[in-house]
Amino acid sequence: MKIIVAGTGFVGLTHAAVCSEYGHEVYAYDIDEKKLNAYRSGEAEQINHYVNEPGLAEIIAENKDRYLFFSSDLEGIIEGTDAIFLCLPTPPNVDGSSDLSFYFKAVDHICTLLAKRADTRRIVLINKSTVPIGTARQLERKLHEYNVPNAGVASNPEFLPEGDAVEKSRRPDRVTVGADTDEDFRIIRRIYSQFVNHVRIRYIETTPETAEAIKYVANTLLLTYISFWNGVGARLGETFANIRMEDLKRGVTADNRISTWGSYVSNGAGGSCFGKDIQSLIYQLKSAGQPTDVLQSVYNINEYQKTYLIDRASREAGARFNQKKVALLGLAFKQRTNDMRDASSLKVVETLLARGVSEIRAYDPVATAEAKRFFNPENNHLFEKISYYKSAKEALAGTDMVFISTDWEEFRGLSRTIEQAVKPPFLVIDGRRMIPDYNELTERGYGYIAVGSPYMPPK
Ligand code: UDX
Repeated sequence: MKIIVAGTGFVGLTHAAVCSEYGHEVYAYDIDEKKLNAYRSGEAEQINHYVNEPGLAEIIAENKDRYLFFSSDLEGIIEGTDAIFLCLPTPPNVDGSSDLSFYFKAVDHICTLLAKRADTRRIVLINKSTVPIGTARQLERKLHEYNVPNAGVASNPEFLPEGDAVEKSRRPDRVTVGADTDEDFRIIRRIYSQFVNHVRIRYIETTPETAEAIKYVANTLLLTYISFWNGVGARLGETFANIRMEDLKRGVTADNRISTWGSYVSNGAGGSCFGKDIQSLIYQLKSAGQPTDVLQSVYNINEYQKTYLIDRASREAGARFNQKKVALLGLAFKQRTNDMRDASSLKVVETLLARGVSEIRAYDPVATAEAKRFFNPENNHLFEKISYYKSAKEALAGTDMVFISTDWEEFRGLSRTIEQAVKPPFLVIDGRRMIPDYNELTERGYGYIAVGSPYMPPK
């Protein structure tokens, strides 16, 4: 099959690379030549600068110029194409709705070219990035508007977790295809032939609207589950003495109907999908006059969770932040990624600065460059108070307290590093429950407060 993947961000590049592994002729199209040159190089360092996914650079290096091509010239590659996957960014507007301007700009360009192509074989335009319910139908209207001959629309949302995108693309839990005609289902079945009738992969064919809805329901349900643990499990552990969160979690998730994924309590879930998708779904339902109480509560719990430990530290441990130096460990939204979109650390920094801290000494194993972009002092002079270090120990030096915001493995059992770097009085604020041996800390005079447990004062 000849396939074009339009948009080469995280979703598009991974999809193009994995499709090329199956022997399709794949053209990854983007308007950004600099990006394309990095991909064309096949060099891990250059590729990872744009999309840092384990295994991705290797697939590109292996398949480029054979099955995988990079182009900014859509007109030059569009002839004879069977399918175009649309993987364009759909960022949120302030009111929660999705900004579809990038998407429709690309669609207009594609339709103009499709209207005048010589080869009028059937072509399917497939939405892969998350778009509001009804977007495939809008795309269909565009095809009519431009008089594009013999073209169909489909929805085939991605469900890729960052850091695991290549593995999940090769072995997805399900492939969801929403289309209107047998012909279009057949074309997509040929693209995904290795997944059709697979014993462990559910291949679901449905309407475009259902496929679009599946993506929103899946993501908001996952966030609901995390927020249930954060809003109920953590609250119980913080309120009643002697509740061990880890045992509570084990006891509850022993029931195989209840998932362990999502059950670790945290200072909130971030990333490029959860926050954006729940706000978009709230907007879509509200615009239709529907109540959105459940979704709104989930969203509120998750936002509250991002910084509530700072209030707890004041209330329960008597912490004062004004003119204090704070170490911030972890900037990425989760471990094993440098992505900071919607990361809890963004809210933590904002709140600490508003409380008048004199310095934030930050450390993240991979997200420092990204953090400098988010915390650019040109946008807010208060960001000058943030400095970056190459290890947790260096960041801790001379501080009054630490906030742990990301679940990097290297932060597990951080107590020894803390003891080496700083002397009590010192407060550890743990947003990820990374220090199971906190007794050692409190016995040596450090205070400890974590999501899911009451404040443990120094002994
Ligand atoms: C998510 C979905 O998993 C994926 O299917 C979807 O298509 C895109 O969004 P991703 O954003 O990469 O993927 O991250 P994920 O691993 O799901 O974690 C999201 C956030 O929840 C992270 O901040 C993570 O630290 C947090 N989390 C996760 C918890 O706080 N507790 C948990 O138990 C699990």
